[in-house]
Amino acid sequence: MKEEGNSKMEKIVSLCKRRGFVFQGSEIYGGLKGTWDHGPLGVALNNNIKREWWKLFVDSREDMYGLDAAIIMNAKTWDVSGHTGSGFCDPLVEDSETGERFRADHLLKDHGIDAEGMLLEEIDGIIAEKGIKSPKGNTLSPARQFNLMFESRIGATAGDEGKVYLRPETAQGIFVNFKNVVDAMSPKMPFGIAQIGKAFRNEIAPREFLFRVREFEQMEIEYFVKEEHWEEEYEKLRKDIQVWHKHLGLRDENIREYEVPDNDLAHYSKRTIDFEYNYPGKGFDELAGFAYRTDHDLKSHMEASGVSQEYIEPDGSRYIPHVLEPSFGIGRAITAVLCEAYTEDEMGGDTRTYLKLPAHLAPYRAAVSPLLKNKPQLVEKAREVFTMLKKEFGNIAWDDNGNVGKRYRRQDEIGTPACIVIDFDTLGDEKPEHKDTVTVRDRDTGEQERFKIEDLVAKLSE
Ligand code: GAP
Repeated sequence: MKEEGNSKMEKIVSLCKRRGFVFQGSEIYGGLKGTWDHGPLGVALNNNIKREWWKLFVDSREDMYGLDAAIIMNAKTWDVSGHTGSGFCDPLVEDSETGERFRADHLLKDHGIDAEGMLLEEIDGIIAEKGIKSPKGNTLSPARQFNLMFESRIGATAGDEGKVYLRPETAQGIFVNFKNVVDAMSPKMPFGIAQIGKAFRNEIAPREFLFRVREFEQMEIEYFVKEEHWEEEYEKLRKDIQVWHKHLGLRDENIREYEVPDNDLAHYSKRTIDFEYNYPGKGFDELAGFAYRTDHDLKSHMEASGVSQEYIEPDGSRYIPHVLEPSFGIGRAITAVLCEAYTEDEMGGDTRTYLKLPAHLAPYRAAVSPLLKNKPQLVEKAREVFTMLKKEFGNIAWDDNGNVGKRYRRQDEIGTPACIVIDFDTLGDEKPEHKDTVTVRDRDTGEQERFKIEDLVAKLSE
C-alpha cells in the first residue's frame, strides 16, 4: 500500500514537471533545496485556490476584512511573538563525518519514537541508548536547538541593529495591524482579518515535494472574539474549514481532524486541531491548522509597544480580544488537490491518466480546437468560439496540436473539464440541422454531446 502510494506521488511529481505545474527551484544550477517554482499551470491552480478561499472566507461574509502586510517587519515583532525563542526551534543533530544536518525528532520517528516535547538531553539519551546513527551510518552530534527564521539585514546598518527576519507566518502582520483595522473599519465583534502571503522557514530537512519547504504561501485568518465566546466561535469556524476542504474536492475519508495534545501545542496555543490529509505513501499528515491563540499575541504586543490593543464596545467596556486562527498552507492544499484528482482508468482500450479537478480549480475551464488545423474555415470558426469563451472565462485553452484523440489525452492530463471541437457539422455543410453547434467532450466520462454555440457559456458556467 505504501509502495503504491509512493509510486502515485512520484507520478504526480513527474506530471507536475512535465506539464508545467511545478518545477524545482533554480533547477539549471542544480536546484535549491526546499524551493519550488510554479509553472504556467501551477500559477493557474494556485491562483484559483487563493481566489476560491478569498471568496469563501472574505467576500461572502460580512465579518472578514482583508490585509496585505509587509513580509519584512520590525524585528521586535518576533521577540514579542516568541519566534526568536526556543518555541520556534527544531532539534538538530549533525553527522560527525559529513556535517550533514538532520532533524533529531525525524530520525527518532524513523525508529518509531515520538520525540514531541522532549528535552535535548532526553533526545541525546535515546540516541545513545538505541545506538541511532545518521542515514550514512555515522555517529551523531549532541542535539541543539535550531531557530527556523531566516535572518537578513536592512539598509546599510552593521551589527544587530539592522537585523531583520523574513516572516515565518503571515499572522503577525495581522496582529500588528489589529488597531489600524479597528480604527479604519469599526468592525463589530466577532470579526476576522484575513491575509494571503509568503512565509519563510529555514527547515532543517525540507522534503516530500511541496509538503515541507523553505518558502511557501499561507492563507491565514485571525478571528477576534470575546474570551467567553471562543468555544462557540471555534465550532463555527471549524465547520467553515470543513466546507472549504469539501470545496477543494477532498473526500471526507481522506480528511481527519487531529486534536493536538497539550505537550505538542505551539507556544501560543491553548487548543489546536490539525486538519490532516491522507497523502499517498505517507498517510495522514497536516494540511491546515486551527489554533486558539488566546490573547497571547495582542497582549504581548500591547505590553511591548505600549500601544493599546483593546477593543472598545459601543457601551464603553474594553478588553483585549481572544483569537482563533485557521491557517492554511497553499502548497499542501495543492498537493492534496492533485493527489485527490490524480486518476488512472481505461478508455478506448488504453490506460489514461487524468486529473479529476473540480471545474473551479482546473487551470483551464475548457479547450477549444478545430477538428483539422489545415482547414481555414474550421480554424476561423473555432477562433470565433475561442474568443467568445475567452472573453467570458479567461482561462480557455487553444489546442490544435496533433489529432483530436491526442488533444483529449493532453487536456485530460492537466484536468481540463471540457474539450470543444469545431467540425464540418458546425459549418452546416452536410447536416444543416447541426449548423453552429459544436461537440463538447466531458473529461471524466469521455462522452460527447452537441451544443449550440450560443448555449456554451451557460453550459460551461453550470
Ligand atoms: N500562524 C500559524 C502557523 O503558521 P503552522 O502550523 O506552523 O501555524 C500553518 O503553519 C500551515 O502552514 C500548516 O498547516 C501548513 O499547511 C503550512 N506550512 C507550515 N510550514 C510549512 C512548510 N515548511 N512548508 C509548507 N507548508 C508549511
